[in-house]
Amino acid sequence: MDVRKAVIPAAGLGTRQLPTSKAVPKELLPLIDRPLLHYIVEEALDAGLSQMVIVTSQGKDAMANYFDPAPQYEELLERRGETSLATAMRRVREEAEFIFVRQHQQLGLGHAVYTARNAVGDEPFAVMLPDDVIGGGEAPAIGELLDTATAHDASVIAVEQVPPERISSYGVVAPGEADGDAIRVLGMVEKPPAAEAPSDLGIVGRYVLTPELFGAMERVTPGAGGELQLTDGIALLLEEQPVYARRFTGTRYDAGNPMGMLRASVSLALRRSDIGPAFRAWLQDELAQG
Ligand code: UTP
Repeated sequence: MDVRKAVIPAAGLGTRQLPTSKAVPKELLPLIDRPLLHYIVEEALDAGLSQMVIVTSQGKDAMANYFDPAPQYEELLERRGETSLATAMRRVREEAEFIFVRQHQQLGLGHAVYTARNAVGDEPFAVMLPDDVIGGGEAPAIGELLDTATAHDASVIAVEQVPPERISSYGVVAPGEADGDAIRVLGMVEKPPAAEAPSDLGIVGRYVLTPELFGAMERVTPGAGGELQLTDGIALLLEEQPVYARRFTGTRYDAGNPMGMLRASVSLALRRSDIGPAFRAWLQDELAQG
């Protein structure tokens, strides 16, 4: 399967990150030293995707500005010896191509993805949510999904095992037979009460989808929370063609809320070779002081 495009929905209101998201798009909140959007673009590039279709909305123009070339800052960072940050900035500028499409009303994730249909065209594509941060895996999470999508020539959604007390916050998969890493999806339900959840496999914000998803989205009616849910679109797609689920090897953090952002910051900082050792020593001291 030849996938080149990553749709990155970033038009939401970000109410769980209020009050900051009043003035700063939550997708630009910094995780250590760069915004969430930067990480998602790096993950896409690492998996061989080079065209980023970013879904944006009124008041979030800073996201497009962020990706404007700024060689003067790269030079400044290099002069200061901060070469890894300069290299990261240059890589995004040189390797990624950006298309911005606008969602005029926040009608839900499914609607945001549908807004990108003309930019995507008639080809399979990835969907990557910037507030789902996945780190520490053997490979980029979207790359793992692309492997499964190519092996089965079908859509694939990322899932993780979720404890019962949290399952009602997720889209949940009804699993069929497993074939290696790929689990055949028989059905899906958005935010079920724990007792009605068809499994403990919760959907996480990485998908590889065939373009027939757009036709399926046209038949979706507002679901949980009055929104046009991507899960409902994929459930309709399932009636036409096979869809698989796959667990990824990394750990996922929901940076869409302050606690998840804090966890992601600590975990990623501890793993970084440049700041990790000093941060670990500081954290151990801090914890020892109670
Ligand atoms: P979320 O549900 O986490 O985002 O959507 P939200 O609605 O902005 O956040 P809260 O719940 O109010 O805090 C996941 C991703 O989908 C995008 C968001 O920007 C986020 O990146 N999204 C969501 C859209 O682009 N449009 C929408 O209508 C809804």
